[in-house]
Amino acid sequence: MATTGRDLFSLSAETFLITGASSGLGVEAARALARQGAKLVLTARREERLEALARELPNAAYYACDLSSTEEIEDLWRFCDQEIGVVTGLLNNAGAAVVKQATEESDEEYRSVLEVNLVSVFAMSKRFAKRLIDVKREGVVVNVASVLGLLGSGQIPLASYTSSKAGVVNLTRELAVQWAQYGIRVNAVAPGWFFSEMTESMFTDEKAQRWIAQRTPMGRAGAVGELDGVFIFLSSKASSYVTGQTFVVDGGWSIL
Ligand SMILES: NC(=O)c1ccc[n+]([C@@H]2O[C@H](COP(=O)([O-])OP(=O)(O)OC[C@H]3O[C@@H](n4cnc5c(N)ncnc54)[C@H](OP(=O)(O)O)[C@@H]3O)[C@@H](O)[C@H]2O)c1
Repeated sequence: MATTGRDLFSLSAETFLITGASSGLGVEAARALARQGAKLVLTARREERLEALARELPNAAYYACDLSSTEEIEDLWRFCDQEIGVVTGLLNNAGAAVVKQATEESDEEYRSVLEVNLVSVFAMSKRFAKRLIDVKREGVVVNVASVLGLLGSGQIPLASYTSSKAGVVNLTRELAVQWAQYGIRVNAVAPGWFFSEMTESMFTDEKAQRWIAQRTPMGRAGAVGELDGVFIFLSSKASSYVTGQTFVVDGGWSIL
């Protein structure tokens, strides 16, 4: 039977765990999903930020966690099991970047970016899916990749970041294939340029701002709220037959 209007965008999951919910795109995603009626678990390292956001939202809990630590990831899922119940939605949004020429980037720096941007996406998704499969529930994973997971970055040297995000794009496909049989959909969003702590230096530097505007067919960076639609689409019944895909939201950056 056809679904229309509000029902179409009713969420595919009741409880979403959002990583990187202490700033930037994670905060926006949390607000957008909360407006759709989701119950949320917010995580990042800065607990005071999580607490403030949880206070603002109608139905949100938080748990501070460093995603580069396997032990802390285990603690986070123990918290969810004991305090929240079954988490049916996962938004892998946390990310980090090192801006350095590849010849200057240390192996440790490279590994640390992969740890947060890629290994944690695997570690979180795996624990999420295992629980759902055990209790025979369906679910939805949304990974935050980047246009820089599809293209080289051009002016900014980002070897670890671009390769980690390319990994997220194909991990999304692989997990989608493995888990389709369980009713767990896995998709990704690849944003272009949006203001956040990570990109602040690009937005305060006039030359960099000009470069973004000139290089983007739509002539500007993304604005607050312009990822809400894709986050909601991928988390809702509107995308019930969509899995393994990466949705680019970049004002046309990647088509040139
Ligand atoms: N802004 C853009 O233009 C853009 C474009 C494409 C993709 N993205 C992606 O969007 C996602 C969000 O980035 P953003 O732009 O919103 O940047 P941001 O404001 O710097 O947010 C990064 C988030 O990741 C969390 N984080 C970083 N390292 C962590 C760790 N070890 N353990 C747990 N959490 C960690 C940070 O929280 P704590 O510091 O509190 O731990 C923060 O909440 C990232 O995956 C980024 O790569 C952003």
